[in-house]
Amino acid sequence: MTVTAESTWTQQTATLSPALKQATPVVVDHALGSWIHGTDGNDYLDFTTGIGVTSTGHCHPRVVAAAQDQCAKIIHAQYTTVMHPPLLELTEKLGHVLPLGLDSVFYANSGSEAVEAAIRLARMATARPNIVVFQGGFHGRTVAAASLTTAGTKFSAGFSPLMAGVHMSPFPYAYRYGWDTDTAVDFALRELDYLLQSRVAPNDTAAFLIEPVLGDGGYLPTPPRFLQGLRERADRHGVVLILDEVQAGFGRTGKFWGHQHAAGVTPDILITAKGLASGFPISAIAAPTELMSKAWPGSQGGTYGGNAVAAAAAVATIDVIHDENLVDNARIRGDQMLDGLREIAPRFGGIGDVRGLGLMAGIEFVADTDDGTRVPDAAAAAAVQQATTRHGLLTLTCGPAGNVVRLIPALVVTEDEIAMGLDRFAAALTEVFSGDTLGQR
Ligand SMILES: Cc1ncc(COP(=O)(O)O)c(C=O)c1O
Repeated sequence: MTVTAESTWTQQTATLSPALKQATPVVVDHALGSWIHGTDGNDYLDFTTGIGVTSTGHCHPRVVAAAQDQCAKIIHAQYTTVMHPPLLELTEKLGHVLPLGLDSVFYANSGSEAVEAAIRLARMATARPNIVVFQGGFHGRTVAAASLTTAGTKFSAGFSPLMAGVHMSPFPYAYRYGWDTDTAVDFALRELDYLLQSRVAPNDTAAFLIEPVLGDGGYLPTPPRFLQGLRERADRHGVVLILDEVQAGFGRTGKFWGHQHAAGVTPDILITAKGLASGFPISAIAAPTELMSKAWPGSQGGTYGGNAVAAAAAVATIDVIHDENLVDNARIRGDQMLDGLREIAPRFGGIGDVRGLGLMAGIEFVADTDDGTRVPDAAAAAAVQQATTRHGLLTLTCGPAGNVVRLIPALVVTEDEIAMGLDRFAAALTEVFSGDTLGQR
């Protein structure tokens, strides 16, 4: 059959699928550090970092140089066929920052893939089927990862059947329940024990899977005592504790890993992605060699995992985080951001809660009802998020109800940039709430 030029190259142009949702109308021309320069000629202070990805800021010169150098050497060296120096160097360097005992690593491309790989590993290692997740957790969009995700029905509705063997236990979301943190933790641990007694037998349970800070679920730090309770129960029942550090890891919370805020907690499997390579797609799964050895060789892998350019960028990212003390910077600038938000919030009646850890801040919007209760106000959060763009600050929303605005600056963010971000956020609030007038819109 002859293929004509017409049938191969047509006049058709394609457009982006309506299945995607754009948070802002910004088209980026170039970006550096905390700043995005739009094709509209405007400069935007980026407090989204590509959903917590550009840890060392946009286009950090050392990350750019590492990637450029590697591109000229080899781009794709499929890592279960041949190995390459960035892969070996990255693996060695990850060892320096991983919790002691987690000394075996393999790679994938995205957070979702890494989550699925971790589940595969936990099920193989324990020969048990069930996974317990915690309400509001986000673990990705591929079908198995979506089955583990309870941060909103939009992530799992409409394409059932989902993966079997997933069970959900409450998360200690103190603000939502209207309790203090201790009461919420006691409740959530009690409910987990009840789940393990009533439906999910410990001997059938492979893993507990949780984020150290719920990301898409509303920027909720997991209380240390809850993580400690999970660790204790995991040990007692022979369950694998998987910590999804995809969003909270790599220095973002002011410690290298989010779970390090909970003394004495070490995961059995740790998942990292996002900030690992400052924007290049690579994820890693780490566990003790003994646990890894329970999976059969060849059970993990993939075409692009451990890509040479991404691995070189990850090595440079670790070096920059170390040399520029970015974990300390995340803690100090994070405190500045949260203090500033807590100062601004009382001026606006629509803000119910301000919370976070390091450079992860969530601002929860609520509305008063006639019966005296407060309900999630997604419209307010959306309006504020849109307004921040108009004021030159890029932000995102999150939370199952969509009523939380989240701020996720780069780890290189400066004192002046946080101050400027707070000013712009306050200006957006003022625009939406028509001035400092207790929630009137
Ligand atoms: C905690 C967490 N886990 C997993 C994922 C999925 O990662 P990816 O979008 O790279 O598949 C995300 C993405 O936002 C995440 O925040």
